[in-house]
Amino acid sequence: MKFTSFLSVGLFSAAAFAGKHTPATKGPKYERLDKDNALLLVVDIQEGLYQIARDFDPTLYRDQALAHAALGKVFDLPVVMTTSADQGPNGPLAREILEMYPKSPLVQRQGEVNAWDNEDFRKTVRSYNRTQIIMAGITTDVCTTFLALSLREEGYSVWANAEASGTNSALVREISNDRMVAAGVQVVSLFSIVCDLMRDWRNTPGAKELIPWLNVYYPVWGFLARTHAAAVTNGTIQPGEDTLI
Ligand SMILES: *[C@@H]1O[C@H](CO)[C@@H](O)[C@H](O)[C@H]1NC(C)=O
Ligand SMILES: *[C@@H]1O[C@H](CO)[C@@H](O)[C@H](O)[C@H]1NC(C)=O
Repeated sequence: MKFTSFLSVGLFSAAAFAGKHTPATKGPKYERLDKDNALLLVVDIQEGLYQIARDFDPTLYRDQALAHAALGKVFDLPVVMTTSADQGPNGPLAREILEMYPKSPLVQRQGEVNAWDNEDFRKTVRSYNRTQIIMAGITTDVCTTFLALSLREEGYSVWANAEASGTNSALVREISNDRMVAAGVQVVSLFSIVCDLMRDWRNTPGAKELIPWLNVYYPVWGFLARTHAAAVTNGTIQPGEDTLI
């Protein structure tokens, strides 16, 4: 008897719960990137510092760093670039990135390790009135992490592109990314940033703008699109393939 009434109370509660569609506990807020509220930072991706980025294959890292910078082009984001002591061994910002944004601000720090310690940089970032910051830099543990932590302290929402920051080892990358995550930084992939900013393939920018961009900067997707297009325009189903569809 007792068991039955317990069961019926349980079922009744579950039914009431299901009817309301309200979860028992509320999950964390999913803050989506908004291209009209995001600012892209390129931090110390300098030709000398590139030599320290050893946690990726160097060709892969070069491509990922340029892909990060190119987000500003396809989503028409404001871009702020900064360098650390670029007359010295750190070298200039990667030439390809400077050529992408000849009119965007480049704050050349003369000593501050954390870009947020530089007044011009703070003023420049604040002047855009944007609350979402997408960033990457060399090195992950210093240039990216220090700035990301300062931006969080200031109240910004921060997305750290994990593929476009480089450091000396996978160990250092992992502990640095963990440190940022603990401070509420969203440590994410390039493709995650792209899809979060785009949201829907039917938007502008959407498929029309992003597919050519992905073909250059995210070839696993671009080549997939090429295969599909080639099949549609001049494909032939091979013997045996026909059994798969
Ligand atoms: C930022 O906000 C200030 C104050 O409202 C305004 O003067 C300035 O033009 C804004 N800047 C941009 C880039 O929208
Ligand atoms: C289409 O495929 C055929 C072979 O199936 C090939 O001979 C032809 O050159 C292709 N045409 C184009 C435009 O690629």
